[in-house]
Amino acid sequence: LVPLLTAGGAEAANTPAPTGSAPPPVPLFTVPMPLIPVARPVSTDGGVDTYEVTTRKVTKEILPGTRSELLTYDGQFPGATIKARRGRPVVIRQRNGLDVPISRHLHGGSVQQDSDGGPMDTVDPGGERVYTYANKQPHASLWYHDHAHHQEAENVYRGLHGSYLLSDEAEDALPLPKDAYDVVIQISDARFDATGRLQYSMGDWARNTLLVNGAPYPYFEVAARKYRLRFANTSNMRFFELRLADGGDLTQIGSDGGLLPRPHTTKSVYLSSGERADVVIDFSRYPVGTQVVLQNTVAWGPAEQVGQVMRFDVTHTADDPSSVPSVLRTLPPLPAPTGSRTVVLRMDEDGRAAPKAYLDDKVYDPQRVDAFVRHGASEIWTVTNANTTIPHNFHMHLVQFRVIERDGKAPGPAESGLKDTVVLQPGETVRLQATFDTYAGTYVYHCHMLDHSAMGMMATMKIA
Ligand code: C2O
Ligand code: CU
Repeated sequence: LVPLLTAGGAEAANTPAPTGSAPPPVPLFTVPMPLIPVARPVSTDGGVDTYEVTTRKVTKEILPGTRSELLTYDGQFPGATIKARRGRPVVIRQRNGLDVPISRHLHGGSVQQDSDGGPMDTVDPGGERVYTYANKQPHASLWYHDHAHHQEAENVYRGLHGSYLLSDEAEDALPLPKDAYDVVIQISDARFDATGRLQYSMGDWARNTLLVNGAPYPYFEVAARKYRLRFANTSNMRFFELRLADGGDLTQIGSDGGLLPRPHTTKSVYLSSGERADVVIDFSRYPVGTQVVLQNTVAWGPAEQVGQVMRFDVTHTADDPSSVPSVLRTLPPLPAPTGSRTVVLRMDEDGRAAPKAYLDDKVYDPQRVDAFVRHGASEIWTVTNANTTIPHNFHMHLVQFRVIERDGKAPGPAESGLKDTVVLQPGETVRLQATFDTYAGTYVYHCHMLDHSAMGMMATMKIA
């Protein structure tokens, strides 16, 4: 059991007890997994896909019998998937129909500063903002979410997030599973009270229910063939290690920043909050009628169902022209580094003081620039989790980076591609290399456990 926040102090007062609070009875595998709809542009004029979206509060039944209050993009929970194409800009006109400020961030995107949706670049209730994404970067399974400082944790938790799948010709040329066999699976944790209503409190690291594409512990009917499953950990705080209950193989083909150089066969994929993994599962190895549970082996919570995530039901056969090539991608060689710097993540661990989160022993101050980076630089960042019991992770805006070393060793195959978020278990150090040759401007980097960044585990870099 790994505490994500120390007990005691101001947070504890509104943090539900991690033990002794019985989860509501949530039946397993009784609802179908929702397929997240694809957003439709209002215009494609001039080779630009333009979308209009309004954030609004809705109430919706998530657990049977009770309606919960959600914060949504256009009433959808989670938000619709945006399908973007490399070289083809996307414009999003977003109106704020909520009563709190919001900011729309494209996580993993190479985006000009005025469209990055940083924590302080918020839009007031009733306001509107146009975000422009040039989509010049290679294919990647990105996601978008709210980022309004101090508000982001609850906003994302209550529904302000969605997937953004950027494709390109290099990806299209591969015979991977496509269309109905290429499926987004967003996993997040949620706390429901005894009546089945969604509850939010900051620092709640032991939420009692898992949602998959917005539904509790669903089942997904699949054909006996290969599927490309785009897993995203959209939780605020929870980490997952996903495996099939029968110990069957998963083939990981992609991570945050698109395809890996080579597929790798594994029993599990590890996702800290904000990370993504593209995985191919070949269900043809199961006879029709087989049911296979997807489990989570990171058991931080007390809930008895913490080990279950969803179930795949193999219900029919289907043709399968797809395959997973042994080479997926050639990444450009890393340039010679032009400099280096260190980052230390640490928060109060003693259990008495009100939890505060720190990056380089400072709480986030939007007026301060913490790192001046020369435009064009390619830097080694050595990031350390200085806590001994609390995990963190590390996310940079604007760039996709490469993991060079984890605790002095070469990273494993899951970290062999482009990344925008890396996990840092207690005491771990990761060296990564990032190249700042796209946009100049001011961007943040932070722990992606959203309650930690909301408490100040975030800093600012200025690229000029
Ligand atoms: Cu996913 Cu600064 O965010
Ligand atoms: Cu953290």
